[in-house]
Amino acid sequence: MHVAIVGATGAVGIEMMKTLEKRNFPVGKLTLLASARSAGKPLPFKGEMIPVQELTEKSFAGVDVALFSAGGGISKQYAPFATQAGAVVVDNSSAFRMEADVPLVVPEVNGADIKANRGIIANPNCSTAITLMALWPLHQAFGVKRIFASTYQAVSGTGAQAIKELEDQVAAIAAGQPVPRTVYPHQIAFNVLPHVDSFLESGYTKEEMKMQNEGRRIMHHPSFKASVTCVRVPVYRAHSIAVSAEFERPVSIAAAREALAAAKGLDILDEPANAKYPLPLNVAGSDNCQVGRLRLDCALDNGLAFWVVGDQLLKGAALNAVQIAELI
Ligand code: A2P
Repeated sequence: MHVAIVGATGAVGIEMMKTLEKRNFPVGKLTLLASARSAGKPLPFKGEMIPVQELTEKSFAGVDVALFSAGGGISKQYAPFATQAGAVVVDNSSAFRMEADVPLVVPEVNGADIKANRGIIANPNCSTAITLMALWPLHQAFGVKRIFASTYQAVSGTGAQAIKELEDQVAAIAAGQPVPRTVYPHQIAFNVLPHVDSFLESGYTKEEMKMQNEGRRIMHHPSFKASVTCVRVPVYRAHSIAVSAEFERPVSIAAAREALAAAKGLDILDEPANAKYPLPLNVAGSDNCQVGRLRLDCALDNGLAFWVVGDQLLKGAALNAVQIAELI
C-alpha cells in the first residue's frame, strides 16, 4: 500500500512511522509530509532515509491510506484533497470526530464501525481512547451510567514544542536562570495546569467534554455521562486517568478483574501492597494500556474506582491510527 503521513515530523507522526514498521504494515511506498520548514529533512524508515516533502493539494496522487496528525486546521484543509485522490484518511485531529458519516473508532471497542465511511475515519481523543480501554469491558459487564474522572496528561500530547518547553524549563530552573515559556500559559515544570484545550461557556474545557461526546459515539451509548477535569502534568509521555464509574448493575472486584483480564490491549497491574500499579514512566513506549487501583467506590452506588494509564502517542494516537489502517 502507498501510505502517506501528514505531520511526519511531529511527536505523533514519528510514532506512526515506528508503528508501521513495528507492526510490519504492508507499506509499498511511504510519503512523508510536513510544512515547508521540514522539506528535504530525511527520516528513517525500515533502514532507509526518506525525505520529507512539503504538504500540498497534490501530495496524495496514488496514496491508498493517509494518516493525518498535523492539527485540525490542516486536516480540514487537506483531507478533502486526499479523499478526492482516492485515499482513505485516518485523522488524528478533532476536526471530523463528531460528523455522523465519519466513524470514530477504537478498534477494540467498535472496529466494525469503520465500514460506514465517506473516506475519512477519525481517531479519538487520547484520554478518551485510553479510558475506554478499561471502561468498555466494565460497561459490557455492568452497564456504565456515568463517570467522574481527572486526567494527568503528558506534555507530548501538546506536541514536540511542548516536550522541549518542559526540558528547557527544567534545565533553566536547575541553572537558576529565568524560566522560558511559550507553549503553555504557565510554567509546566514542577507544576500542574488544570487547563487542557480551550474553555467553553459551561466552564469545562473542550478536551474535558470529549470524554462524554466521543465516549457516547464509540460505545454507542447516547446517555453516557462524564464529568472530567483535564490536567497537564510535567510528564513527558503517557497519560493517566483516575476514574470513578457508576454502573447499572452491582459490581464486584472479582467480576471487574475478570472483565478487565479478558480485554485485548489492556494489562492489569494491581498489587497496591507491593506498590505495584500503573505508572506513566513504565507504560511509556508500550502498546498496551495498564489498569490498577481497583476498588469499590465509596461514594457511588454500584461504583468502581480505577486508575488507567496509556501511552497517548501510541494507543491515544499512532497505534490506534495504524490499527484502523489495518482494519481498512
Ligand atoms: P513541521 O515539523 O514541518 O512544522 P507536533 O504536534 O509535534 O507539534 O507536530 C505537528 C506536525 O504538523 C509537524 O509534523 C509539523 O510539521 C506539521 N505541520 C504544522 N504546520 C503544518 C503545515 N502548515 N503544513 C504541513 N504540516 C504542518
